[in-house]
Amino acid sequence: MPSWNADQYLKFAAERTRPARDLLARVLVDRPARVIDLGCGPGNSTEILSERWPESGINGLDSSSAMIVAARRDYPQGDWAVGDISVWAADATHQFDIVFANAALHWVPDHEQLFPRIFARVAPGGALAVQVPYNLDAPAQTAMRDLAATPAWACLFPPDGVRGWHVHQPGFYYDCLAPLAADIDIWETEYVQVMESADAIVEWYKGTGLRPFLDALPSDADRESFLADYRERIRDSYPPQADGRVLFPFRRLFLVAYH
Ligand SMILES: C[S@@+](CC[C@H](N)C(=O)[O-])C[C@H]1O[C@@H](n2cnc3c(N)ncnc32)[C@H](O)[C@@H]1O
Repeated sequence: MPSWNADQYLKFAAERTRPARDLLARVLVDRPARVIDLGCGPGNSTEILSERWPESGINGLDSSSAMIVAARRDYPQGDWAVGDISVWAADATHQFDIVFANAALHWVPDHEQLFPRIFARVAPGGALAVQVPYNLDAPAQTAMRDLAATPAWACLFPPDGVRGWHVHQPGFYYDCLAPLAADIDIWETEYVQVMESADAIVEWYKGTGLRPFLDALPSDADRESFLADYRERIRDSYPPQADGRVLFPFRRLFLVAYH
């Protein structure tokens, strides 16, 4: 489990919350009584659920106690819990009208089993709404894996690699959920994020995708050195625009499945 740092994550709060807003805009359910935000992080995605449905009972669940501490700090009125999504999905006690998971489920393995289980916790008339990053082939993503596999670094990582992301093609999710759902909406969006420099992309991934690599390294000196090598590797893939900023394309996969 990567060690999450809410402040590092929230350095890009606007860019990270935008897909949650875009996902929520496509959820066509009025007045849900019970809503849950799985992998709620520091509460930024949960907050937009509360704005949309102020009358609803809204829960935030996250396996990182650091993230839940930050959520409680920033939104003390919220209903927060530390817990694992896989465990929650396997517990069929009660259902929710909206199960929302923005930028979270790619950290959870075995989607073939997980998605039907999560969908079973959606009440009739409700919806499951999910967004996952869909950019494993982007240079900033391949660079961290390729770097970790070089002889200089491979000896410092576990032989079976670090914890990776779990993301499948749209057809996989359609086949998982179509036999269960009344209707499914699936789409992709590529955000072209404007960053101050290629270094800002390193800062971005220090809050998410680089965490498993940094956590696996034995010392702070190794972490700094790995980040320096990574920075060097991605620089050419994200050249400066005329004003010095860089464009950081970021593709994401969205789905809303109605019960
Ligand atoms: C990238 S953050 C997303 C935060 C927020 N939902 C947002 O939209 O910005 C991913 C979150 O998923 C949580 N997470 C990862 N695996 C989890 C699991 N198995 N169970 C619960 N939470 C998990 C992490 O702790 C982290 O806070």
